[in-house]
Amino acid sequence: MSLPAVNPTTTKAWKKLAQHFAEIKEVKMQEMFEEDPTRAKRMAIEWQDFYVDFSKNRVTDETLSLLLELAEEVGLKEAIEAQFNGVKINQTEEREVLHTALRDFEDMKPEIAETLQQMKRFSEAIINGKRKGYTGQPITDVVSIGIGGSALGPDMVTEALKYYKNHLNIHYISNVDGDHIVETLKELDRETTLFILVSKTFTTQETLTNSNTVRRWFLEEAPETEIHKHFVVISANAEAVRKFGISPENIFPVWNWVGGRFSLWSAVGLSVCCAIGYTNFEALLKGAHEMDDHFRRKDFSENIPVILALLSVWYNNFFEAETEAFIGYSQYLTKFVPYLQQTVMESNGKNVDRNGDNINYQTGTIVWGGTGTNAQHAFFQLIHQGTKLIPADFVVFTESLHGKTEHQDMLLANCLAQTEALLQGTYKNETENPFRSFSGNKPTNTILVKKLTPGALGRLIAIYEHKVFVQGIVWNIFSYDQWGVELGKKLTKKTLDSIRKKKAQ
Ligand code: F6P
Repeated sequence: MSLPAVNPTTTKAWKKLAQHFAEIKEVKMQEMFEEDPTRAKRMAIEWQDFYVDFSKNRVTDETLSLLLELAEEVGLKEAIEAQFNGVKINQTEEREVLHTALRDFEDMKPEIAETLQQMKRFSEAIINGKRKGYTGQPITDVVSIGIGGSALGPDMVTEALKYYKNHLNIHYISNVDGDHIVETLKELDRETTLFILVSKTFTTQETLTNSNTVRRWFLEEAPETEIHKHFVVISANAEAVRKFGISPENIFPVWNWVGGRFSLWSAVGLSVCCAIGYTNFEALLKGAHEMDDHFRRKDFSENIPVILALLSVWYNNFFEAETEAFIGYSQYLTKFVPYLQQTVMESNGKNVDRNGDNINYQTGTIVWGGTGTNAQHAFFQLIHQGTKLIPADFVVFTESLHGKTEHQDMLLANCLAQTEALLQGTYKNETENPFRSFSGNKPTNTILVKKLTPGALGRLIAIYEHKVFVQGIVWNIFSYDQWGVELGKKLTKKTLDSIRKKKAQ
């Protein structure tokens, strides 16, 4: 069994959507709201602590039902089941895609449960100071070394859940640029620093180079026999890790059926676990699992990831929008966009379909964005008055963690006011001055979440993971491989050889 492979443009729904688009592309959302006072209420999904308002989109009931027809015609239901049931849907790498299994506490594979226990024991010993450095001092700093999926997810979550953080200082080193590592090491003490080396393949140039550099740095003062107190590795390549000099009890497994950009839920998240403690880490996983259940079981018409994905397809393939924005109204979400960029763009930036044929329609969206309210004073001008259509997701937590109500009221007001301004423009307050007029009619989704808890963050991340998958299914591409990163890696090796040869002359 494999994924259905339907060219979306050949479906009946697509043809109907194309015709429907021609009819409604000029219709203004302002009028849609005037004509239907129930619109805001109807086009929203309330689920747990989430309220997803998708009424401010350039869609009618007919658009939505045609998009849902499209989802049926491309075999989305079947594809979702194939993923959850462990079919090798990552066909080009011959792998299952089971990051959802990492957070399924109801039916957990023994090796996952065992690894979670290993993470729990380890992080607790680091946090409570029982596991000490080579001079007998407790660990104060944890440095996670990894790149791409082995860094972006954990780094983003550590930042997002800073409120729940303990006394440990957590650092991430990813770039092969030596300046990154030098700046980080400057602040650190060998006696109290733990290094977590994260690389699923343990072949990634950046991570291996940085790992070797920190190893040398450590050995400048510490004896080789003490490496085991300061270095642990997360990898699927135990053989290569052992060669690096790490003993088996310091290796945490990650499996081939966990894609790098979906791996924060595995031992790749050990730095998160150290930062916020195992209980909070487990709550994050459980939150994501609740979203997995929603995604798998809810009717598509009330299914948050499915609706968000289909709306994005609508803009990407019919309105020809080139990009979409994510605006998190929370300082804690500052690292969400770079994380999302890898999840979305490494997954869906593909130009060959599941039959191996070249694609003649648009696939992966370009995702960008920032943090509200800062972004309002930076790039919002272009969203409001520029010539490009930029659908945007606005995410905001209704309760502040620190109880700063004065700030929180302003934050919320800004978020809601922006979506309103983007919708209405100066429609009702016409102005003579062309420079001061706003056309409005700019699409947004507003995702209101009660509070930034570990569980809520898990649910939020899982929404976007599933959105990516749905879009990949609609576009008939393989979302879980990333062959596009390989050519550059090969050429770097060649170029490096010639740089080294020249230097040796
Ligand atoms: O080069 C891209 C990539 O393969 C990502 O998909 C992955 O997240 C990252 O590199 C890191 O890979 P690894 O964990 O094997 O070092």
